[in-house]
Amino acid sequence: MEVVIQPDAAAVAVFGADIIDRLISTKPGAVLGLATGSSPLGVYDELIRRCVASTLSFEDATAFLLDEYIGLPPGHPASYRVFIEQHFTGRVDIDASHVHVPDGAADDIVAACHDYEQRIRDAGGIDLQLLGIGADGHVGFNEPTSSLASRTRVKTLTPQTRSDNARFFDNPDEVPHHVVTQGIGTILEARHLLLIANGASKAGAIAKAVEGPVTSMCPASAIQLHPHVTVVIDEAAAAELTLAEYYRDTFAGKPLWQSS
Ligand code: GLP
Repeated sequence: MEVVIQPDAAAVAVFGADIIDRLISTKPGAVLGLATGSSPLGVYDELIRRCVASTLSFEDATAFLLDEYIGLPPGHPASYRVFIEQHFTGRVDIDASHVHVPDGAADDIVAACHDYEQRIRDAGGIDLQLLGIGADGHVGFNEPTSSLASRTRVKTLTPQTRSDNARFFDNPDEVPHHVVTQGIGTILEARHLLLIANGASKAGAIAKAVEGPVTSMCPASAIQLHPHVTVVIDEAAAAELTLAEYYRDTFAGKPLWQSS
């Protein structure tokens, strides 16, 4: 695992965008795993800027979103399909038919979850999965105690996550209780995980995910089981890391031949 501590959220965004830019430049048909929430927004803005400047193109890329609410009417402004269109996929040149979102409105949700897993396999697997992290250590919507071997399935949100996400809804009671999310096992099959976090509210979760025991009580700690993980965080999110100095020194002295 590589932990990269950047001075602020703006630098985190550029660093994260550089990683995706390098992937797309070497593999234009790459399969991206996208995340919602505020954490990746800076990365998306930077990628949009590069796409508008015609230095980067997503026209051959495919994308799979991590998760979606169950029970929101199609086009609901807080749905993750609308969110990702507004904040990223609708503002770059990716083919809309190549953007996959778990179907939270399917009549047969279980079959839709199996179908989503199959679509990821049919696309050749995910090259790079972008991840945010919840304050309780959730990734996607894999809440604490999610199986570390889980696949795409229905989950029930914790009161904490419903309250954290209430800001996207007119009324907090509107936040769905149920969601569809890629599982931890699904996420771990992506070839590269890029976890982004900013701000003091994420410091505890980041310390647990990076340095704590691997435990379903902090689903993000499963990244320790993956052979290629890049954690890009600002100083505030790094505040509770025991080995922060080691990560800074390692990054500063990184040999040119070492891949990112
Ligand atoms: C939601 C999303 C997660 C995201 C988390 C944190 O629960 N399902 O993918 O990581 O929020 O969001 P934020 O980045 O806004 O703190």
